[in-house]
Amino acid sequence: TEYETILVETRGRVGWITLNRPEALNALNTQVCRDVVAASSAFDDDREIGAIVLTGSDRAFAAGADIKEMEAKSGLDMIMDDHFGDWSDFAAVRTPVIAAVAGYALGGGCELAMMCDIILAADSAKFGQPEINLGVIPGMGGSQRLLRAVGYYKAADLILSGRMMDAAEAERSGLASRVVPAADLLDEAGALADTIAGKSLPALYGAKAVLDAALETPLAEGLRLEKHVFTSLFDTEDQKEGMAAFREKRTPDFRGR
Ligand code: HXC
Repeated sequence: TEYETILVETRGRVGWITLNRPEALNALNTQVCRDVVAASSAFDDDREIGAIVLTGSDRAFAAGADIKEMEAKSGLDMIMDDHFGDWSDFAAVRTPVIAAVAGYALGGGCELAMMCDIILAADSAKFGQPEINLGVIPGMGGSQRLLRAVGYYKAADLILSGRMMDAAEAERSGLASRVVPAADLLDEAGALADTIAGKSLPALYGAKAVLDAALETPLAEGLRLEKHVFTSLFDTEDQKEGMAAFREKRTPDFRGR
């Protein structure tokens, strides 16, 4: 498939998506959304893929939604086109997704990173929700996902001031799980993705599904879902293989069923 705004590559069991609009610091326009949703959904439908890495350039993961595309629109226009609506298809991908963030992850760029499961930050990363500087507010999930990630007070500080935070602050706040030197970002992301992609696919899907559910369900319901997914995994061949491999002191050979 040909994509206009992204580069797509498969390396082993990992699908790589690289945002590629350098002239606009990877600003997220309608075509980027279309491309990322199509590429991630193709990886999601491929049983040979166990993890996806989403990354940008050294300068920018993504500097936000495309301001020039949005500028002239009315509120009704934004509702009628459901501008940003299709990004929810990316957030709903079953396969674990790692955001490898260098440079700017602002506005929709920060929100896109937060649609991923793991955020690895280069020491050059800068995160923020600067929409308030434009007279609007986060519109791709930022107010909800950032608050859940870093708590009310840090989220309010960022969203109300529009300031950026560096990688160290993002890690301290719990948004980035790790900070690595910028030169190592893609290798680190690749190593982590390879590790994940080597696990049992049904277990990965189950783990991601219960983690996602935890963000929106009361504890008792979340625990019921966890028990259901946990017990159902005992009917997979991979569970028998994983536990036999442990007993036999060897590496498991997961088959994804
Ligand atoms: C469209 C953008 C863009 C964006 C950068 N560019 N960000 N175009 N939408 N979000 C373009 C610039 O216009 C410029 O194009 C080129 O990319 C390089 O950017 P510069 O500004 O020249 O680079 P620099 O001086 O290094 O500054 C980098 C920056 C700045 C600090 C990241 O570009 C910036 O503040 N960008 C906007 C960040 C932002 O507000 N994001 C939130 C967007 S709203 P030309 O053609 O002039 O060279 C959002 C809302 C989502 O995401 C939810 C719904 C509302």
